[in-house]
Amino acid sequence: AQSLPLALLAAYLLGSVPFAVIVSRGFGLKDPRSYGSGNPGATNVLRSGNKLAALLTLLGDGAKGAVAVLLAHHFLAGQALEPAMERIFLGGVALSVFFGHLFPVFLRFKGGKGVATAAGVLLALDPLLGLSVLGVWLVVAALSRYSSLAALCAAAASPLLAGMMWGFNLLVAAVAVMAMALVGKHWVNIQRLLAGQESKIGSKKK
Ligand code: G3P
Repeated sequence: AQSLPLALLAAYLLGSVPFAVIVSRGFGLKDPRSYGSGNPGATNVLRSGNKLAALLTLLGDGAKGAVAVLLAHHFLAGQALEPAMERIFLGGVALSVFFGHLFPVFLRFKGGKGVATAAGVLLALDPLLGLSVLGVWLVVAALSRYSSLAALCAAAASPLLAGMMWGFNLLVAAVAVMAMALVGKHWVNIQRLLAGQESKIGSKKK
């Protein structure tokens, strides 16, 4: 338990690594904060027209969420903590890496919307939960072609699915906090969806 503050800090710093900006720089593309929605995330990098850069952004932002949770799992395996304490540790690490992505120290706290990182976190917490939430995203995205709407539906489903699979505990509360923060970060997208002005997946926007 003494390692918790250090683990939270490490997870936050890992979450702060902005793959949208790093990958775009690597590919010689414009900074994603300067076009489209201005969001440093895979959906917006796709608006540059470079699918590989968008895929690598998705994988990078997802992997950092998964890696943080897997490292926490690995660390906990060597400890003899009570289940409730384990859930606090895991939930804390999950929230730290996620909020690192949303409010990254390396981008003056102006980060992404958390979709890929949340997916990585959920997959690592429980593959069945992660895949179910991903399934919601894929179905809504396929039907609507709106990345943001798919993320909002997946976020809404995630605490419910987590509660059904795990029973309602503190880790479910952490998933609910992630979902609420994700919805909050999509505020502008919600306004655009309601106004019928949201751009669809892959459509370029200046
Ligand atoms: O991944 C974020 C997505 O849900 C919305 O992104 O760029 O359309 O605001 P964007």
